[in-house]
Amino acid sequence: MAAGTLPVQSDPTLLAEIRRYGKFDPTGCYQCGSCTITCDQAVGIVTFPRRIIRYALLGLRQPLVASLEPWVCHDCGDCSIACPRQSEPAIAMMTLRRFLSAQYEWTGIGAKLLQSTAWYLGSLILLAAFTMLLIVGYHLWYVRMPVGDFATTPFGLEHMFPLMTYYALAVILLPLLLLLSRTVRIWRLTMVREGQPRIPLSTYAAQAWVYVYESVTHARMRKCLDHSQWTPHWFLALGTVMMLGIKVFALHWFQTDNIYPLYHPQRWLGYLAAGLILYGIADIFARRWRTRKEMGKETHFRDLAFPGLLLMLALSGLAVHIFRYAGFALTCHYLYALHVILATDLLVVEMSFGKWSHMVYRPLALYLLAVRERASRQALAAEVVSRA
Ligand code: HEM
Ligand code: SF4
Ligand code: SF4
Repeated sequence: MAAGTLPVQSDPTLLAEIRRYGKFDPTGCYQCGSCTITCDQAVGIVTFPRRIIRYALLGLRQPLVASLEPWVCHDCGDCSIACPRQSEPAIAMMTLRRFLSAQYEWTGIGAKLLQSTAWYLGSLILLAAFTMLLIVGYHLWYVRMPVGDFATTPFGLEHMFPLMTYYALAVILLPLLLLLSRTVRIWRLTMVREGQPRIPLSTYAAQAWVYVYESVTHARMRKCLDHSQWTPHWFLALGTVMMLGIKVFALHWFQTDNIYPLYHPQRWLGYLAAGLILYGIADIFARRWRTRKEMGKETHFRDLAFPGLLLMLALSGLAVHIFRYAGFALTCHYLYALHVILATDLLVVEMSFGKWSHMVYRPLALYLLAVRERASRQALAAEVVSRA
């Protein structure tokens, strides 16, 4: 190494850039490590938040971007309580998750939406206006409905098939595919290191179960001392996945003008999914309301936007159902338009670029960390064998 050359590059712009994504104020951190000792999630090779905060303070962009640990943080706030310097490491992790999400995203749209509330709200409003135009255009030019009939004539929910099936598939599957397409970039940013041997494919294959297991069970959440969040969150995720599954695979069966008795599976499956979602959302708002809890202390607008949109979507869906059964066909029709607008906003903006992307990023981070851990065990075993 040439004299005067540092082994790592420090980027003086990094700290300012991170702060564009939310509060990040651990400048008083004197690296005591109390936060790491307190954290129930910091086990084995997963050590944080002290180390990650150090990367940010020293301007070490590459190791910071390669860090998967902020996705292991479950936002319990214990580290912030333990910190003797009031550096609020839990809030720092939250901000870093937004910063990392923007690094994974290649279009640049994610960075704009995550940094600016105006951009985020603007995108929701613009997309809502576009969806409304599609709905009006569909009735005027596809169904050839006279303008005067908008205020008088309900067609029933079935008139929009099969176009509605294609629309539902597009707004659910395209954001999901976009999200999954980022896994290659995440792998490159976090697992490929210059001068280090590549981890063999067999190690990735051997740990693949971790991704599926964590996606389905969210088991890591139960590692926190206070894991009371697990049940409502799991119910919320189950209800959401059930609803998405119904809309993708059984829309024609679910969105019908038929009136069914209460015991019909179409009704109770709908009530079950809606009930699970509403229970999960009620728990989120209750937690954030009780501000004495550390985890609700710094509520970012975006933290409320996601459950807020989910709540409005669930309520508008229920309203469509109630007004249909009560015989208010025209009101039901307008409420259905609102429901489609909210669903499009939630799926396209929140799933692709917002907080909902954690449903892919969190299990992926746990999986890649498990791969790293297995690879380091294998390397150690190989070294022992070679020395013997
Ligand atoms: C359909 C799937 C999912 C939905 C609808 C969902 C929904 C949510 C919502 C609304 C929050 C915010 C809670 C709050 O603001 O207090 C949240 C937080 C959280 N979720 Fe999920 N989630 C899903 C999947 C997952 C998966 C697969 C994991 C992990 C494997 C996960 C782990 C977490 C964790 C650790 C938090 C707490 C930390 C935070 O607020 O960022 N979620 N989830
Ligand atoms: S908020 Fe909880 S999980 Fe996250 S780093 Fe702090 S102690 Fe660990
Ligand atoms: S407990 Fe506070 S001061 Fe100590 S390392 Fe963590 S953030 Fe820094």
